[in-house]
Amino acid sequence: MNNTNFIIEISNLNKNYIIENRENIEIIKNLNFKLKRNSKISIVGPSGSGKSTFLNILGLLDRQFEGSYLFKGKNVLSISDHKLNNIRGSSVGFIHQFFHLIPELTAIENVMLPYLINNNSENSFEIAQKILFEFGLEDRIRFKPLKLSGGEQQRVAIARSLINNPDIILADEMTGNLDENTANKIFTFFIKYIEQNKKTLVYVTHNKKFAFFADEIYNFNNKKIFLNE
Ligand SMILES: Nc1ncnc2c1ncn2[C@@H]1O[C@H](COP(=O)(O)OP(=O)(O)OP(=O)(O)O)[C@@H](O)[C@H]1O
Ligand SMILES: [Mg+2]
Repeated sequence: MNNTNFIIEISNLNKNYIIENRENIEIIKNLNFKLKRNSKISIVGPSGSGKSTFLNILGLLDRQFEGSYLFKGKNVLSISDHKLNNIRGSSVGFIHQFFHLIPELTAIENVMLPYLINNNSENSFEIAQKILFEFGLEDRIRFKPLKLSGGEQQRVAIARSLINNPDIILADEMTGNLDENTANKIFTFFIKYIEQNKKTLVYVTHNKKFAFFADEIYNFNNKKIFLNE
């Protein structure tokens, strides 16, 4: 059905937050954006400009917007919640800034969770284990998040975003809470993984050095994104 080579096509996107049922804050206005399959793009911009808001919309986590959004050719605003959840579960990997791991679950259980929701499969343990091994966590799979270092928690969060073999990964400040050395290591490993496995990647970062790993860098400014020339 979708015969274009764009995974995402957005036109005239508007997003407002309504506070206490009266005040309307405009965050995104008339934004147009197309994302090619297998591309890597980064988004930079001042704090509060709307980067996370935009990423949540891209990642099908927020449908409270106006405009047109086609995800793999499907109109995001007109499909059912159930179908949207399925698409998000199978196609989108999301890495949150603050990891968002479930503290009661071990590393491997955290990684298995999205797989179980989507697949009901018996081999979820082996699949989660394989990804955790790839990220160098073979000795930590039974640890709960609080017993892991920040860098290890981040690698668990990355592994979790990859377990359903999504086409597209959205990463919001994935190295924002790590020391420079750990951030460098995790980021380079992650980018290599993305390239080798031919994923599409959108990442928000405050780190100029990391932004340059992308094919294209966008600036969030004035309620829109602009391509850095
Ligand atoms: N649920 C919400 N209700 C009302 N306003 C919100 C909500 N979420 C975010 N905002 C406002 O929208 C603006 C953009 O927020 P957003 O989190 O998208 O910024 P950001 O670019 O990701 O910033 P940062 O770089 O600090 O993470 C902010 O001014 C914020 O206060
Ligand atoms: Mg943000």
